[in-house]
Amino acid sequence: MKTFYIETFGCQMNAHDSEKVVGTLVEKGYQQMAKPEDAELVLYNTCSIRDKAEQKVFHRLQQFKYAAKNGHSKKTFGVLGCVAQQEGERIFERAPHVSLVVGSASYTKLPELLIQLEAGNQRVTGLSLDTNETFDTPFTRRDNPHRAYLTIIEGCDKACAYCVVPFTRGPERSRTSESVLREMQSLAGSGYTEVQLLGQNVNSYRDPSPAGLDFARLLAATGEIAGIRRVRFTTSHPRDFGRSIVDAIGEQPTLCNHVHLPVQSGSSAVLERMQRLYTRDDYMRRIEWMKNAKRDIAITTDIIVGFPGETEADFNRTIDLIDEIEYDSMFIFKYSKRPNTSALAYEDHIPEDEKTRRFMILQERQRVIQMRRNGKYVGRTEEVHVEGYNLATGQWIGRTSQNKTLNFHDVELPAPVEGRTLTGQYLDVLVTRAGPNSLAGHTQTLLQ
Ligand code: 5AD
Ligand code: SF4
Repeated sequence: MKTFYIETFGCQMNAHDSEKVVGTLVEKGYQQMAKPEDAELVLYNTCSIRDKAEQKVFHRLQQFKYAAKNGHSKKTFGVLGCVAQQEGERIFERAPHVSLVVGSASYTKLPELLIQLEAGNQRVTGLSLDTNETFDTPFTRRDNPHRAYLTIIEGCDKACAYCVVPFTRGPERSRTSESVLREMQSLAGSGYTEVQLLGQNVNSYRDPSPAGLDFARLLAATGEIAGIRRVRFTTSHPRDFGRSIVDAIGEQPTLCNHVHLPVQSGSSAVLERMQRLYTRDDYMRRIEWMKNAKRDIAITTDIIVGFPGETEADFNRTIDLIDEIEYDSMFIFKYSKRPNTSALAYEDHIPEDEKTRRFMILQERQRVIQMRRNGKYVGRTEEVHVEGYNLATGQWIGRTSQNKTLNFHDVELPAPVEGRTLTGQYLDVLVTRAGPNSLAGHTQTLLQ
């Protein structure tokens, strides 16, 4: 039996790609190992969104360079995903013990690449970006039996000045709505109740089949599939985010009331230099749709601080934007130079310590906002999908439709016992405490 190990970095798209890679390898007779030490084939599915993410894989490979002297010399190493696509054959120079380099658009070719590897070929690559096939494999090996990822669109046709994704994941390719809905029905048939629709920009989804659904109609259709209780989607680009998406969420309770809408900056001047294709006002209009929706929609975002040329006044516009919107949660990033991107040519790059200062200010401001927002949930009952049990805290971990973590105590089953678990169930939980990053409570039965 041939053995492999895979470690995944980066976004949910990458996590799902790894599930597809694992499924393909298992189908080809490979066995997955929990530790790299035990595997003949060691794979890293990599991310290059920021420099730090990219460095991780080279650190890992470096670790094994030394380990090779201690009996790991027979291992085969493969680099997959975004760093593979970006660096290509240069990876062989930086890490000569690597034998396989495969970009995210070339996983369909994995079986034939493996045959070349098994034949003893030392330098095997799959780096084409022009593939029209989306990686639609029946062998996907999903880790979580309740919550599944499902790709609806791959690649990205935008050209944000800071972003490497169009170079690593290629142009946009939408799957047909029939294929998406068929996979969703089959997921429901296998017992999945929650599905997350994935794409770099799900809002620009265009059904290539005669049904011709746009994203809002596809979303509404997924929400009607019997057995599916929750549908999520990520990620949205504000420019393509239409009001019909908000209306669909308002109408259909199975569509989770959470939207991740990356704003990146509160300054229209910075947005223009980022080539984001919307102004602050355009963005605020989308926020208004959500704030006026029939259901209480949680809104989260991504922000980049220290984009080249970001002045103190620009930064202050971001601060007043987050004060005005009061996001439920936010990821803040310090601008990081990426290869091939147009922002590299910009002047006035911001010093690292100034980026850090802006990062800390935003982080603290947002912590207070989240504390206040989450505090409003105390006393409310929220439905959670149970994700697991935390041994350290002795609490079940649940997630609300709004994507908030709600840790809770259950009197009937305080902890999982042989053959009994709450994982995968939907339960009503009374919220009794709130912190900036999570809620806590107990099931109603405690009160009776
Ligand atoms: N530097 C910093 N943050 C970045 N992001 C994307 N590219 C960069 C970069 N070069 C952030 C954006 C995006 C999130 C996934 O990562 O905020 O929404
Ligand atoms: Fe990282 Fe972007 Fe690639 Fe996802 S698509 S793995 S975030 S570089």
